[in-house]
Amino acid sequence: MVFKMKIIGFGKGIPARCVSNDDIAQFLDTSDEWIFTRTGIKTRYVCTTETLTDLSVTAANGALEDAKLNPDDIDLIICATLGGDYGTPSLSCCIAEGIGAKCPCFDVNAACTGFIYALELASGFISSGKAKNVLIVSAEMMSAKTDWSDRNTCVLFGDGAAGCVVTAGNAVKYINLSSAAMPNSTVLNMPNGTGNSPFTKEQKSSGFLHMQGQEVFKFVVNIVESELKLVQERTGLSPAQIDLFLLHQANKRIIDFTGAKLKQPPEKFPCNIQRYGNLSSASIPLLLFETVKSGQIKPGDTLLLCAFGAGLTAGTCVIVWE
Ligand code: UT7
Repeated sequence: MVFKMKIIGFGKGIPARCVSNDDIAQFLDTSDEWIFTRTGIKTRYVCTTETLTDLSVTAANGALEDAKLNPDDIDLIICATLGGDYGTPSLSCCIAEGIGAKCPCFDVNAACTGFIYALELASGFISSGKAKNVLIVSAEMMSAKTDWSDRNTCVLFGDGAAGCVVTAGNAVKYINLSSAAMPNSTVLNMPNGTGNSPFTKEQKSSGFLHMQGQEVFKFVVNIVESELKLVQERTGLSPAQIDLFLLHQANKRIIDFTGAKLKQPPEKFPCNIQRYGNLSSASIPLLLFETVKSGQIKPGDTLLLCAFGAGLTAGTCVIVWE
């Protein structure tokens, strides 16, 4: 399978308010020591007055400017998100309105893997000639989805958006999407309510994100290992031939474990979890954006992107940077 695609511009939208571990320890039974040693997180950004649409439109405008394109040049907007400001319209429609674009738009929910799913979808539209330039925005307001009295979850996540424009090119060499049913769906989920239908047997209200961390941890390290094995089988690339591994920023220990397993040095695993926490689908595009802009990624570098999240879903992408 050939993916005729490259990334030509990046943007990000991050809330103004930075919340430290010590800030959270003011109202929750936790500590900077616990959070940092167990996860690698020091701070995260959290919305106060910003909406998710605000963050997403900022990211989208940044990506357009970076790609030197106008809203009229965009043929499709795909938004990866657990959910926008509304059930409907989709967040991608809100972005279109915010930037002044009139193209088709839709959202994709593949939890933290959403960006890789969006890349694969974009490649289908570009390869078929249906779209020339696709705007992808990954955006999450995790602060509205976690229970701030649950120390198992709320300390882990942050809010933010990251976007890019993809167009025809030869940079993307491989994408694999997968999913593996969790043994028990309660291990990582966020239940929707039943509304107030008089016909439903048992009315339930929407719930916060719930995670059994250790169960998810075990599942994740296995799925990452099998994704990386597949890359080697299907592309012939050994870990030594990958210049940088951009893994989903869920836990620094997962990243370190993977590096040790692959016998690859920590320098090959850029991280921004320390500053942003887990941004779900926005983690990988934000990391890619920052690593490109810092000059750490150079043309010709082989990058491996690997994301995993609720479902479980997983996705891997190999890019030779242009
Ligand atoms: O992005 C989607 C995919 N998500 C992931 O990949 C996350 C995978 N899981 C993880 O990263 C880790 O399991 C966590 C960071 C979520 C948790 O770390 P852990 O080392 O697995 O801790 P644990 O859940 O086993 O909890 C250990 C202890 C418990 O206390 P007891 O029962 O041993 O007394 C928890 O109550 O740590 C306690 N604990 C905390 N203590 C202080 C849990 N959260 C906190 C906290 N502060 N925030």
